[in-house]
Amino acid sequence: MSIELKGVHKAFGASKVLQGFTLDVQEGEIVTVIGPSGSGKSTTLKTIIGLLEPDEGEVWVDGENVHQLGLDALYALRRKVGYVFQFAALFDSMTVRENVAMGLRRMPGLSEAEIQERVEDALSRVDLEGSGARFPAQLSGGMKKRAGLARAIALNPRYLLYDEPTTGLDPLTVTMVDRLILRMRDELQVTSLVITHDIESAYRISDRIAMLFEGQVLEVGTPEEIRSSESSRVRAFVEGKPELLEDHQ
Ligand SMILES: Nc1ncnc2c1ncn2[C@@H]1O[C@H](COP(=O)(O)OP(=O)(O)O)[C@@H](O)[C@H]1O
Ligand SMILES: [Mg+2]
Repeated sequence: MSIELKGVHKAFGASKVLQGFTLDVQEGEIVTVIGPSGSGKSTTLKTIIGLLEPDEGEVWVDGENVHQLGLDALYALRRKVGYVFQFAALFDSMTVRENVAMGLRRMPGLSEAEIQERVEDALSRVDLEGSGARFPAQLSGGMKKRAGLARAIALNPRYLLYDEPTTGLDPLTVTMVDRLILRMRDELQVTSLVITHDIESAYRISDRIAMLFEGQVLEVGTPEEIRSSESSRVRAFVEGKPELLEDHQ
């Protein structure tokens, strides 16, 4: 019941994005990867669900070596892993309810009544029970995030991957999303990996925080450990002091 990345390398052309990325997320944990924009955070998530193939290294999810799996086994594994996209990625022409139902309709053997029941359950878990008939354009930014989360949890995942869940939200909505991430862990016992550049949010929700820098995990520790890190690179990022980085180079 864990996610493990072992020495993952990934380059796009000449640009080496991941350069030996190693991290584990244990059962029931919330681990946050923080790093600046363009540092390879989304790339990391895509390797976990097999959308991108690492050039080197291994990714293990739920005891399986993701990049050794055949297609059927990969699809089966993906059903255990919910992915909450950075920009909700809702279909504008479909109601919230239909957006949440979409993944369920692809699962064999579910009756329409079961699908509706799971949709309503997912919507109520994110406090959107009254909004199923709305269209995405009628939702606030925070509600769109919640709808995206409902779509992921409707599939009963064992793991949840969140790509920048709080980016672009106002502070109150950020707090609400943070609480939802904790609530999903507590109510659904999911194992969570959160990708963000929001250090305050990382402090609030994480069991452990991993600092991504130049394609590697520079430091991993509890929020307290990261807060009191002596690494100038970690402090440059968490305290917002780029001059600490320049001192180091
Ligand atoms: N499919 C791709 N093809 C080429 N370059 C990519 C691709 N995906 C990401 N990149 C590049 O890799 C770097 C890291 O991207 P990304 O993982 O999206 O960063 P982050 O999520 O941390 O902002 C960026 O420079 C981006 O332009
Ligand atoms: Mg990204």
